[in-house]
Amino acid sequence: MCGIVGYVGPKNATSLLVDGLKRLEYRGYDSAGVSLMNGAGVETRKAKGKIAMLEKAIGAHPIKGNVGIAHTRWATHGPPNECNAHPHHDCTGTISVVHNGIIENYSPLRDMLKKTGHTFVSDTDTEVLAHLIEAAFDGNLEEAVVDALALVEGTYGIAVISSRDPEKIVAARKGSPLLIGLGEGENYVASDVAAILQHTRHVVYLDDGEMAVLTRDAYRVTDLNAQTVKKRVSRIDWDLEQIEKGGFAHFMLKEIMEQPQSIENTMRGRSVDEDGFSKLGGLNLSKDELQHFDHIIITACGTSWHSALIGKMMIEEHARIRCEVEYASEFRYRNPIVTDRTLCIAISQSGETADTLAAMREAKRRGAKTLGLVNVVGSTIAREDDGGIYLHAGPEIGVASTKAFTSQVVALTLLTLKLARLRTMSVVQGRDVTQALERLPQQVQSILDRAAEIEQIAEAFVEAKNFLYLGRGYNFPVALEGALKLKEISYIHAEGYPAAEMKHGPIALIDENMPVVFIAPHDSVFDKVVSNVQEVKARGGRVIVITSRDEPSLEGKIDYEIRIPETIDMLNPILAVIPLQLLAYYIAAKRGLNVDQPRNLAKSVTVE
Ligand code: AGP
Repeated sequence: MCGIVGYVGPKNATSLLVDGLKRLEYRGYDSAGVSLMNGAGVETRKAKGKIAMLEKAIGAHPIKGNVGIAHTRWATHGPPNECNAHPHHDCTGTISVVHNGIIENYSPLRDMLKKTGHTFVSDTDTEVLAHLIEAAFDGNLEEAVVDALALVEGTYGIAVISSRDPEKIVAARKGSPLLIGLGEGENYVASDVAAILQHTRHVVYLDDGEMAVLTRDAYRVTDLNAQTVKKRVSRIDWDLEQIEKGGFAHFMLKEIMEQPQSIENTMRGRSVDEDGFSKLGGLNLSKDELQHFDHIIITACGTSWHSALIGKMMIEEHARIRCEVEYASEFRYRNPIVTDRTLCIAISQSGETADTLAAMREAKRRGAKTLGLVNVVGSTIAREDDGGIYLHAGPEIGVASTKAFTSQVVALTLLTLKLARLRTMSVVQGRDVTQALERLPQQVQSILDRAAEIEQIAEAFVEAKNFLYLGRGYNFPVALEGALKLKEISYIHAEGYPAAEMKHGPIALIDENMPVVFIAPHDSVFDKVVSNVQEVKARGGRVIVITSRDEPSLEGKIDYEIRIPETIDMLNPILAVIPLQLLAYYIAAKRGLNVDQPRNLAKSVTVE
């Protein structure tokens, strides 16, 4: 996730800003930069890659000043490189901006600015802000920022400086965290308290729609109508380690809890209700090309392979296109049937998984068009595919994938919507899907709010030796994902199975020592799963049931029930997986294991 640090005061800000960025490294980034007022104007240094590269750039051409802003970028628009790194300037080079968030209408704004003579140097949405402020500037920086932000749709946390209105930093927030740090004769701005904790523990958190103007001796918070807003000063008692994990014990728990926001970010600007259509600008495929495909292959590994199975079901059910799911490690060495009417979708959180990259290259060599569903912008798969959908889930630090999985299913739903509305899906059916998508973030939040209930259930299974996860239809891949989550962080053996398959062998495993998790929301196959639950109970098994409604026939037969909200069948996996992520997390944490970096595992398997 991007990071912002700013300083105004008597000290030379260069090393203070760079050190602040280092405190934000844990959030994940791909480039960094700093702008300082050096008395003659605004001077900027930027670098692709780690902050050490930025330090090298500064070392080669030192800059100093006592008003400055700095940024670590997690690319959303435009690949990671020096040009796209923040801060960004206006045409005159006297205004410098750093920005967290996504400007949804940057493209029309860019066109409008170009028509009035502005020239752009980067691929980013952020650079538009610098030029909007330039166009509005009339001697007062904060007034120009207000006028510029009035034209912006989307989310932002920004910090702005200008040599034409020096000795101040202007900050504003809408949908992306920003705070002011209060010092003695100096003040700070940051996206995360970790960046400034070594300088001050007194902060003012900005809320959406608020702006702050900082000088070395004062700060003022207003709304965008210049009305002063009275803000409380908070004292930070956390230590740095706690802050990096947002106060959670592990990155994995933080990322599980972030899912209402990450799902919202995946959907942002892409789900259009009135037409029941999805806007996917990055596909780089025309309507004719999308209608040309008669065969889709989805290739991936691990958790991404599980979301691929869900994608297959929704594409075949709604878009009526034949769809196969392939383990990338298998596909790359097979002799698969691929034609120029084949679309190959590579799903990968990291965008660097060697098997998935090789499988996508193989499909491309054989004439298929390729799409990447990737979280890391500018990663190899994202650079080599013909088009794609970025997940915008933010960096996933925990090795066990959680928010990337739910964002993958959302992205697959949006793609299915696109394909289906070009074929057989009506606008009414399309609206049902987009409205169900809109409800997801608060439905996920309602499950997360009951995490303590799931922690209580986990307590009973800390010593378990085996687990069985069973589901049908869209929930079979959820059974696989729940089993993978448990085994990879708790080292308990767990298997996922289609619920009906149990009678073809696994039922021999059932006794009082075999906990069985049923993923059984009320969907089109619910009644079938009920009989599977009864089969397990009849053999002394302990059952945990994830469901969405009371079921009289199961009265007294469920040992542990976890309730989830109701949604359409194809979106049940997003709700049903949340309790399974939490169950795996709490069992592993209670076993005292390294949840974020389990033994033998890497976050991205970049080797065969
Ligand atoms: C999931 O929890 C695992 N960490 C692993 O299976 C992972 O999903 C797999 O290695 C694929 O990674 P990718 O999505 O980055 O390609």
